[in-house]
Amino acid sequence: MSTQIIRPARTLQGSLTVPGDKSISHRYAMLAGFAEGTSRLANFSTGADPHSSLGCMEALGATLRKGPGAAVEVTGVGGSFLQPKGDLDCGNSGSTMRMLAGLIAPHPHTFTLIGDHSLTMRPMERIRKPLAQMGARIELVDDHAPMTIHGGPLKAIDFTTPIPSAQVKTAVLFAGLQGEGTTSLTEAVRTRDHSEHALKAFGARLDRTAGANEAGPSKLSIAGGQKLHAIDATVPGDISSAAFFLCAALLYPDANLVLDSLGMNPTRAALLDVITALGGRIKVLTVEEHHGEMIGTIQVNRAEGKPATEPYVISGALTAQVIDELPVLAAVAPYTSAGLIIRDAQELRVKESDRIALVARNLRAMGAELKENLDGLEIPGNQSLHGASIDSADDHRIAMAFSIAALRATGDTEIHGAEAASISFPEFFTSLDSLAQR
Ligand code: S3P
Repeated sequence: MSTQIIRPARTLQGSLTVPGDKSISHRYAMLAGFAEGTSRLANFSTGADPHSSLGCMEALGATLRKGPGAAVEVTGVGGSFLQPKGDLDCGNSGSTMRMLAGLIAPHPHTFTLIGDHSLTMRPMERIRKPLAQMGARIELVDDHAPMTIHGGPLKAIDFTTPIPSAQVKTAVLFAGLQGEGTTSLTEAVRTRDHSEHALKAFGARLDRTAGANEAGPSKLSIAGGQKLHAIDATVPGDISSAAFFLCAALLYPDANLVLDSLGMNPTRAALLDVITALGGRIKVLTVEEHHGEMIGTIQVNRAEGKPATEPYVISGALTAQVIDELPVLAAVAPYTSAGLIIRDAQELRVKESDRIALVARNLRAMGAELKENLDGLEIPGNQSLHGASIDSADDHRIAMAFSIAALRATGDTEIHGAEAASISFPEFFTSLDSLAQR
């Protein structure tokens, strides 16, 4: 287990390109592996998780060519996966296990999906249930991996997601794409829509009907029996990785940060509103669209003017939209003028770690006062923190979140299990060193 020492910084300045988006990389890897032809994916995520998806595609018969740099070429199986010779190793990646289950369940083979200790603790019934309704035979051990799928033909269903989860939505869409009939899926809260864009980019037809409120309920329909073709694509930079530096920029009156090639999909970009509400100023310098995904360049500073006097509340649909950014938002909350309240975030307890408990424990280790609730945290602002010994519990986002909190603490902070950052952002500590001025 590696430990990183984070020294406080005077300010944060410079420009940065974050690695390709983890969520989009997973989807491109899987759909390229399934499609007919060779897909060229530039700026593919350098994180270990999307490479677990690539590894699984290779085991299922796709051919990979990695490089130069972050480019990946995937030659797909043209709609028919092979029987893998061994287990499908999903590593630490919940996205791989859950989304892949939907993609492979219609194929007439037996698949065993395994993962590391953390992934083996995470709930899988949420995808087994809809896939079983479609006719899939899936075995779990008490709601958990290892997951055995006895694949075969599936039929369409009309499904309403009980929890806001893009992974569950994706598992159902990927299975529906290959089922008999038209599968519909209703979500009460709109989750990230990368699967919808990726499916269309690879040639699938997909319909969406929504009410007046874009963040509210919407219904997706996908006809079965569709074939996909290869694409050339560039993966936008990961806004969840950028979040660490956006939050760091809140910590200094003279911070100045430019992020380019950044993914700004509206179902992920609520983070930018939260950063603004917490005292940041974001200027969008450029924006363009690629395969339905928005990519842009932004500049971030701390806003001048009157600081907030009431804590900012993240709840309801907003919680789902910034779910992966909550650890770092919470980690910088004590330094904000009025603090942060996070509600409706029970899902955080079943991520790579119990992120509510771990954020609370680590913030307290740094001397912060806060209240831990079942579904969130209440963190007063205007606090001073001190360096401490931080346990990442091998959770990438915890390791990175507390490296940011450490920048404004007094004294050094030890981040134990710092190598976990490589799950989504292997370049994190190098980027931090190049931007933090000491
Ligand atoms: C993801 C969806 C979210 C998120 C995860 C990536 C995705 O999980 O936390 O990091 O790529 O679809 P849930 O679907 O469990 O909410």
